[in-house]
Amino acid sequence: MSYEAKFRVWRGDDGDGELTDYTVEVNEGEVVLDIIHRLQATQAPDLAVRWNCKAGKCGSCSAEINGMPKLMCMTRMSTFEPDETVTVTPVRTFPVIRDLVTDVSYNYEKAREIPSFDPGDAKPGELRMQQVDVERSQEFRKCIECFLCQNVCHVIRDHEENKPEFSGPRFLMRIAELEMHPADQADRRQIAAKDHGLGFCNITKCCTEVCPEHIKITDNALIPMKERVVGRKYDPVVWLGSKLGIV
Ligand code: SF4
Ligand code: F3S
Ligand code: FES
Repeated sequence: MSYEAKFRVWRGDDGDGELTDYTVEVNEGEVVLDIIHRLQATQAPDLAVRWNCKAGKCGSCSAEINGMPKLMCMTRMSTFEPDETVTVTPVRTFPVIRDLVTDVSYNYEKAREIPSFDPGDAKPGELRMQQVDVERSQEFRKCIECFLCQNVCHVIRDHEENKPEFSGPRFLMRIAELEMHPADQADRRQIAAKDHGLGFCNITKCCTEVCPEHIKITDNALIPMKERVVGRKYDPVVWLGSKLGIV
């Protein structure tokens, strides 16, 4: 069954823009990205949109649909009433380049600041892991880097000034993943707390709610990381060592 849907799409660049109304054909089984593509093909050839896989795996097509952070390619048109206006706007936390495309370089800068896996003195081939340790961080490896969690976290969504200090849930989760690696020698608790602003997170769990991969970012990465940071702080040996300047 086909019908004509009302779409309201944000058009503009980082200087100026507005919501523009369109009426677009919708066919059975289509997703929001299909409608955006039809809009491009039939009425708005200059509409900028980032996408790649159309399968929920590349993380490119993040947007806000009726105010909810979602992947356009995974949002079925059947979830809306046929007479409902579907509003599509760029993710709000990052600067708009044009239309639905934002500049997400903040995320790549934060990624680069995380020290990579540190094997210490171990030589290639010497490291062994138990299956239980492999499985502990497996969940975090499902991340498709859509940055919807980054977009929705109020610490930076509402406070641009926090961006230099706070790396956001996706990258604190990456640090937690490295922290869980039994052979990693870096002090990830220090790195998370001091360099990446773990303390800014007040566990609102909005990041977890929007993750399209259903990763339990808060419960399985951020809260355990916070507990370990606190554990370090109140460890009497660490406390004494820091007083003596040796830890
Ligand atoms: Fe996207 Fe989830 Fe990865 Fe965040 S953790 S970037 S929401 S896939
Ligand atoms: Fe932000 Fe997630 Fe913490 S939304 S405040 S990082 S629980
Ligand atoms: Fe790849 Fe949507 S186009 S996740």
